[in-house]
Amino acid sequence: MQVIVENVNKIYQIETEALIVLAEVNFKIEAGDFLVITGPSGAGKTTILNLLGTLDEPSGGRILYDGVEAGSLSPNQIADFRREHIGFVFQFYNLIPQLSAQENVMLPLLPTMKHLDFDLEERAAALLAQVGLDGKGNKYPYQLSGGEQQRVAIARALVNTPSMILADEPTGNLDAEIGEQILHILQDINREQGVTIVLVTHNEGFTHYGTRVLRIDKTKLNTVR
Ligand SMILES: Nc1ncnc2c1ncn2[C@@H]1O[C@H](COP(=O)(O)OP(=O)(O)O)[C@@H](O)[C@H]1O
Ligand SMILES: [Mg+2]
Repeated sequence: MQVIVENVNKIYQIETEALIVLAEVNFKIEAGDFLVITGPSGAGKTTILNLLGTLDEPSGGRILYDGVEAGSLSPNQIADFRREHIGFVFQFYNLIPQLSAQENVMLPLLPTMKHLDFDLEERAAALLAQVGLDGKGNKYPYQLSGGEQQRVAIARALVNTPSMILADEPTGNLDAEIGEQILHILQDINREQGVTIVLVTHNEGFTHYGTRVLRIDKTKLNTVR
């Protein structure tokens, strides 16, 4: 999937104050890119990722997905689009504590389970094995380390065979070494399965994972490479 971000603005209105976070931002994401977006805390990284993930709408401009503008779709169509094409990974994993690892991985597709042409339990087990958690499907989040919980979250992000995974500071809560393991998993997914990855991080030390790097600086996204 190709994503085109065209003249995008994002302004938060807080009482009488307007906070301009993004102004006239333009960039493209090609299928198979590993795009790293850096910038200091508060620069707008989560904002841009939420826009790319159709979780939020631009204040101006538009975002096209293979030529289709998200803003032209109905809320139901956007929800379908997101479920079919996008996987999310967050800093704090966002696993459901009452569900096992395997159930957490299955969750995004549970609403459509009847219509699937494959066995969802089998796919979840295979994805857990892919991220190095073979045999841990019955564990609950509290029984897993932070790094293991993030692996579950990556397996969950893959369950819908997404075109693009959006990762918001996925190593922000992990020790450096565990964080590198998580980034290697994302790199393998990108290289071996061709899934587009967009990683946002304040950590400049992670830019080498990117095939392309952008930096947010004062409402602009500048190309680093
Ligand atoms: N829903 C919101 N309403 C008002 N201001 C917001 C909202 N979300 C984010 N902001 C502000 O927008 C700026 C960018 O936030 P964010 O995208 O979360 O930055 P980052 O992820 O780079 O730390 C910050 O100043 C933040 O306080
Ligand atoms: Mg953020």
